[in-house]
Amino acid sequence: MDTILILDFGSQTTQLIGRRIRDIGVYSKIYPGDADLSRVLTQDVKGVILSGSPSSVYDQDAPEPDESVYSLNIPILGICYGLQRIIHDHGGKVSSLEKKEYGRAKIHFMESQALFNGISDGFISWMSHGDTIERVAPGFRIAAYTENNLPAFIVHDEKKISGIQFHPEVTHTQGGCRILENFSLKICGAKKEWNVETYLGQIRKQISNRVGKKEILLLTSGGVDSTVAAVLLLSALRPQKVHLMYIDSGLMRKMETEEVRTLLESLGAEHLHIINASERFLKALRGVTDPEEKRRIIGDLFIRVQDEETRKLGINCAYLAQGTLYTDMIESGKGVGKKAQVIKSHHNVRSPLVEEKREQGLVIEPLSDLYKDEVRALGRHLGLPTETVKRHPFPGPGLGVRILGEVTREKCEILKEADFIYIHELKRRGLYDQIWQAFTVLLPVRSVGVSGDSRRYGYVLALRAVISKDGMTADVYPFSAGDLLEISAKITNSVKEIGRVVYDISSKPPATIEWE
Ligand code: XMP
Repeated sequence: MDTILILDFGSQTTQLIGRRIRDIGVYSKIYPGDADLSRVLTQDVKGVILSGSPSSVYDQDAPEPDESVYSLNIPILGICYGLQRIIHDHGGKVSSLEKKEYGRAKIHFMESQALFNGISDGFISWMSHGDTIERVAPGFRIAAYTENNLPAFIVHDEKKISGIQFHPEVTHTQGGCRILENFSLKICGAKKEWNVETYLGQIRKQISNRVGKKEILLLTSGGVDSTVAAVLLLSALRPQKVHLMYIDSGLMRKMETEEVRTLLESLGAEHLHIINASERFLKALRGVTDPEEKRRIIGDLFIRVQDEETRKLGINCAYLAQGTLYTDMIESGKGVGKKAQVIKSHHNVRSPLVEEKREQGLVIEPLSDLYKDEVRALGRHLGLPTETVKRHPFPGPGLGVRILGEVTREKCEILKEADFIYIHELKRRGLYDQIWQAFTVLLPVRSVGVSGDSRRYGYVLALRAVISKDGMTADVYPFSAGDLLEISAKITNSVKEIGRVVYDISSKPPATIEWE
């Protein structure tokens, strides 16, 4: 399938470049900026994008691409740092600006260029750079400037190499998608071959080739990702070979286990194993307050319980499957450059036990190439119930990262009740489907209140509701004041341990969606 390869130098928006290109219908794949191209290049790669970066080209450990990238004879587009990298690597000069160019800036063309087909002169672009091109490299030419007279678009006369200083992937850039479309379709000549059906055909074939007649175990949570993964496995392999295991960690939402059982049974699973391990999880979490430590403990325990239970059940599965998404891999620092930071270690990606299996080639992650909305589209295509497809994401460590600080049974029960009321209210008000993710967080503080004539010392509960496309960035959902007031009253009236409700009004970035 025609592919645009993106080399990631650590920019916050690299993901968006990949997303936008897939939205155009062209397959895109992100690799670490320093990826060995001899290993990742195939005939299908029609163009390369060099991403932005928090680094400067003159930093001592600035990320560099495999130098063969410049002799590939396929189109290359540098974005921000990517452009500076190109110019620096070809003998030009990049220098630091006295004042960072940040935010909106108009772009003026010196000549017409295929990259800007359909875009008018003076369009608004989004800038975020502290360096600029002081001197272009031999053979390169500046073909557009920003309103501040800084080079905005540089092109090589003979080689198919060009670069832009602004970020077309960010929605603030007018016609940004058109620019990426011009690059992918017109300049690289890539065909629009990326869609759910093509993917489905490919992935089914891959799964059946890899697993063959061996048995496979999928840890399911009842969420969209693992449910879609389950349907995929059940349709690509013989159902007798597929074992679905659901481990109730005690950190799931109210009534979740029963709902998941009904759902998984309806999928035609022949081997469904529901394990209650809540005591073990709560015991392991006793006294633990650090979020990453909690994630590690929960993640490892999931794998350990799964290992013990499969042994007890006498199942001998050669393969382990997981519903890991592309974004899980990226946020866990996998699939991105060496300097990428681990934002949160999504337990299914970084658990040492899974890592060991992954190294042996025994982990199948059929969704690890997909973004959340692509998984939802796949779920719809596979005929999953709308309610399942539209379920809000729920983190693997569950309520473990929504009870800030130490997790106790009492706090779990309080949070389950409050969350149940919140979600029920959102559904009843027709708001649930407008929101990407909504949940409650139990804070490790108590505050004073009154109940009747007596003083009450209750927990503080935070409500969270965000809108997002893929969880990489998120905006706060703008509830009406009436909805917030009513929901707050319902919670404090029903859950006596909660004395105060607050609404989290932070977007991502700088906050993250979860509180831990
Ligand atoms: P953050 O909080 O990083 O969340 O903005 C982005 C998305 O990822 C989910 N999330 C997790 N999912 N294990 C998971 O499986 C985790 O440890 C984890 N932490 C966050 C979060 O719910 C949101 O959808």
